[in-house]
This record gives sequence, structure tokens and C-alpha cells, in this order.
Amino acid sequence: MKLLNVKLAERSYPIYIGQDLLNDSELMCKHITGNKVMLISNDVVSPLYLDKVIATLSSGGKTVDTTILPDGEVHKNLTTLNLIFDELLANKHGRDTSIVALGGGVIGDMAGFAASCYQRGVEFIQIPTTLLSQVDSSVGGKTAVNHPLGKNMIGAFYQPNAVYIDINCLNTLPAKEFAAGMAEVIKYGIIWDKEFYEWLKVNQSLIKTLDPATLISMIETCCAVKADVVSQDEKEHGVRALLNLGHTFGHAIESEQGYGVWLHGEAVAAGTVIAAKTAQLLGHINDDEFDDIKSIFRLFDLPISKPDSMPFEAFIEHMAVDKKVLAGKLRFILPIGIGHAQVITGIENNMLKHAIENH
Ligand code: NAD
Ligand code: GLY
Repeated sequence: MKLLNVKLAERSYPIYIGQDLLNDSELMCKHITGNKVMLISNDVVSPLYLDKVIATLSSGGKTVDTTILPDGEVHKNLTTLNLIFDELLANKHGRDTSIVALGGGVIGDMAGFAASCYQRGVEFIQIPTTLLSQVDSSVGGKTAVNHPLGKNMIGAFYQPNAVYIDINCLNTLPAKEFAAGMAEVIKYGIIWDKEFYEWLKVNQSLIKTLDPATLISMIETCCAVKADVVSQDEKEHGVRALLNLGHTFGHAIESEQGYGVWLHGEAVAAGTVIAAKTAQLLGHINDDEFDDIKSIFRLFDLPISKPDSMPFEAFIEHMAVDKKVLAGKLRFILPIGIGHAQVITGIENNMLKHAIENH
């Protein structure tokens, strides 16, 4: 088992990465202070893992209640969130309860937001079960639900007490969802670590066949980068913004298509190609680097172009409510070569139009 730490003074917490963690009662109860647990999952993940997690927590002496939400990004909203509060109150959970998220990024983001505001904040544990949530969303404390007018617009920064990454969960993940997670994995290579970017290409077949040692090493690298970035800039006043590479364009795609039509990771992949095209037009990456970025997404079965039917104007409309807008100005994360990225403002609309229409 690998152990990393997110260093945030008194709110620091461990990330455990390994196999069969969900059966380890001592480990899974280690960061739960009280006796009561509200386990949050959905109707796809619960038939696979709920009984196992209940048994593990129960044998550690915890009393476990459950809230099973409907599956999918389309349900990541305030109405569904309220179901968690209904269950917490109906089952008389007090301030000493712990909320445990068992699922992908949708469950993690909603359970985390519920934990941040139930009785003004209760303990929170992440058990991410998708690749995307294991390499990104379970670490760093961003929690949220969507609004019809914008993705993740209602939420809070709220760090978990611990993150348990059991790679065995990936054995049941559909291939399309695994590919979507790879978009965030590739992101770390582009913004932070060229050596890792090259490693991904070399190891693509071991990654795709879910070789355990390769997966653990890959997830550990991603979580180490994320832990480092979050420790430096928890609330995204600086370097953390780089983790949003491709997300400004990607969120526009997700919102325009309707939540859940394009997977988050798919939208991030196409969004990153548009960001890379913009960087190429500005001279921040060369033609070979642009082609390389496109080809690595293709290698991992991800889309490299925006939806055909989505015009430039639709991007502009959605991007105007992006969380990175400051003083009314759009800010974009662009690759600077491969292995570095920067926040760039003041990009002319005609250049954005060219990048969006010709990537
Ligand atoms: P998801 O949570 O919708 O999971 C994808 C699908 O896989 C769902 O149908 C889910 O039920 C199913 N599933 C989950 N685990 C499974 C398993 N082990 N076996 C079989 N099926 C399984 O999507 P996601 O890609 O995990 O997360 C996307 C969400 O994460 C988006 O809402 C995005 O905004 C959010 N996100 C948040 C952050 C953050 O920092 N908080 C970062 C990136 C993305
Ligand atoms: N996924 C972007 C972040 O956590 O900041």
C-alpha cells in the first residue's frame, strides 16, 4: 500500500492507495472519530461495493446508515443533495457523524458538499471508485453541485479526513469511464511532469489492461502532484488554477450538451486540445507538441474535437460564467511546452474562434 499526505496544517490528511483496502476494517475506521456513519452511494455502485463497505465499517464498531442517490451527472443538483439531508435527519445523525462517499466524482462532490454544511460541517471520508475520482476529484476538497446555468456553481472547499483508493474497484468500471479518467491523468503530465507524460505513452497497454502495479504507480503520481498543488494553494488563488487545463472549454461543452451527455473527462480531453491549439497559435507550443497532445488523447480513446454542432458563440456564452472569470475577464490555462502551463488572460476573441473552429 502507498501512503501520501495532503499537507494543510491541522487539516492535513492521508491518501491510501492499494488493493483490497475496502476489506481492511482497522484502516477504514482509523479516521472516523464517532460511532455513526452515513454512507452515500448511488444505484450503480451500491450493488457492487456497498455490502462490503458496510461489513467492514460495522466490524470496526460503526453504526452505518445509507443514502443511495440516483446515478449520474444529471442528478448532481440541489434537489438530489437534499435527499442526503433527509436521511441524516430522519436517522438522527448529530454533529459527531461521519459522511462517507462511496462512488465516482459525482458522489464524492455531493457527499462532500453535504458534509461541509450538515450541522455546519461534519467529518468526511472519500472512497473514490472511478479512475477520475481516484486521480483527481477525491483529493483537494472541492465539493459542489451543478446549477442549470453552470457546472459546479454551488459548493464549498471542504477537505476530507482521509481518502481510500482501492484500485480493485476499477475492475468493474466501464471502459468509456476509464478513458474519461485518463483525461485527468494526461492533464498532470501536460501541466506538471513531462517525464510522466512520456511514461504514459510507453505504458499505455499495461494501463489499459489494468496491470495493478502500473495503475498504483500512475495513481500515486497523479495524487502526489495534486497533493503538492493543493498544499501550496488550497483555495485556488494561484497555482491550483493550472489543474483546470481544458476545463473552461470542457465545462462549456458539458453545459451546452446537457449534463451527462458528454462525460466530464471526455469534455476535458476535447477542451485540452482546444487549449493546446490556442497555445500553438500564441507560440507557446510548437506544431509537433500540438500533434503529440492530440495523439496521446487518441491513444487513450478520448475525443479530440468539440461536438460538431457546437458553435463558437455557445462556448463564449458558457465561458462567461466560468469560475476563473476575474473582473469580467476570461482566464485560460494553456500549456507552455509539455510539462508546464500558465494562466493567460486577454486572448482576442478572433483567436479563440480560430482555435475552437480549427483544432
Ligand atoms: P461519475 O461519478 O458519474 O461516475 C461515472 C459512472 O461510473 C457512474 O455511472 C458511476 O455510477 C459509475 N461507477 C462508479 N464507480 C464504478 C465502479 N467501480 N464500477 C462500475 N461503475 C462505477 O463520474 P466521474 O467521472 O467519477 O466524476 C465526474 C464528476 O467529478 C463530475 O461531476 C466532475 O465535475 C467532478 N470532478 C470534481 C473534481 C473535484 O476536484 N472535486 C475534479 C474533477 C471532476
Ligand atoms: N480538479 C481541479 C481541482 O481540484 O482544482
